[in-house]
Amino acid sequence: VSADVRELRELYADATKLYHHLLVNTAAGEQGLNYLHGRGLDDGTIDAFMLGFAPEGNVLLNFFTEQGRDYQLLRRSELFVERDDGSLVDRFSNRILFTIRDRSGHPIAYSGRKMSSDDDQPKYINSPESPLFNKSQELFNFDLARNGIRQAKEVILLEGYMDVIAAFQAGVTNTVASMGTSLTPEQVQILGRNAEKIFISYDADHAGQAATKRALDMIQKDGKMAAQVVHIPGTQDPDEFFRAEGADAFKSLLQKNVETPVAFGLRYLRDGRDLSNQQEQLSYISDAIKLIAGEREPVVRDRFLRQLADEFSISLPALNEQLRPLLLQQT
Ligand code: CTP
Ligand code: MN
Ligand code: MN
Ligand code: MN
Ligand code: MN
Repeated sequence: VSADVRELRELYADATKLYHHLLVNTAAGEQGLNYLHGRGLDDGTIDAFMLGFAPEGNVLLNFFTEQGRDYQLLRRSELFVERDDGSLVDRFSNRILFTIRDRSGHPIAYSGRKMSSDDDQPKYINSPESPLFNKSQELFNFDLARNGIRQAKEVILLEGYMDVIAAFQAGVTNTVASMGTSLTPEQVQILGRNAEKIFISYDADHAGQAATKRALDMIQKDGKMAAQVVHIPGTQDPDEFFRAEGADAFKSLLQKNVETPVAFGLRYLRDGRDLSNQQEQLSYISDAIKLIAGEREPVVRDRFLRQLADEFSISLPALNEQLRPLLLQQT
């Protein structure tokens, strides 16, 4: 690695130690620690994830300045925001910090979460890209999850930091987060080199479901992993589910509450459509046939076609006639 990257890594390692120390050992961090305990995290988990706390003010800047650190290095680090007059201020203030680590475990970025919900501040403030942090290439927790993923040959993809941390604390260690709903092809490639199967368990809200559909298409295009969508009953996200129901309940969802990409796609296609409307019904059927054409196994295709035939009183031969040219296109 370059000298620049080496220096930045060292800076982030020191920043992470300071933020963690402030969280667990100081009065300034007490509110943050209470917040995390209140969300069910124990001290071992807080350590394992190098969680931190950024107090109000320029604590990090003062710390590094007193050490006589190179000002240009501090500027490049993206740990600070540069004012118009060229002065630096701490980027993170009065927030819990989730430390984002690269695949070797080096801290490379932070995401700062606010602790209260009664202001209109953004919930998360994230590090921008830097020489250490290329967002599209990173998956939260990949370093710690890698062994578990390789052993199981399976990875569980979640949206958020708290989802992964709650899973880890419950003993489910092969989980990573895309850090939001925009999974990238690079992230899919990394996972595809380590797993044969991917379970997607994004949030049940519209953003999560739309992102699930995009992720499935990306995974299919990459072609390395079989995908399953995990359906959590109700509106809980994985973090809430792990806390309320525990690891065994989640593992049982992986067995019993999963959908194939086509089954999910069909359900997603229906969402918000008025199928009593003749026009919408026809366009749904035609889109559904396109989806079914993407299913490899003829037997499974047949099952979905029969469902369509039954539901809309269409003959199976007619559905097959429409499906056949789509199958030929794919080979
Ligand atoms: N995210 C982000 N910036 C935002 C909102 C979300 O980077 N403004 C990313 C974070 O990685 C977050 C994930 O998207 O963890 C999922 O977002 P969301 O479901 O809104 O948050 P949760 O992870 O559920 O956070 P919490 O439980 O603390 O509310
Ligand atoms: Mn510690
Ligand atoms: Mn969400
Ligand atoms: Mn969520
Ligand atoms: Mn959540």
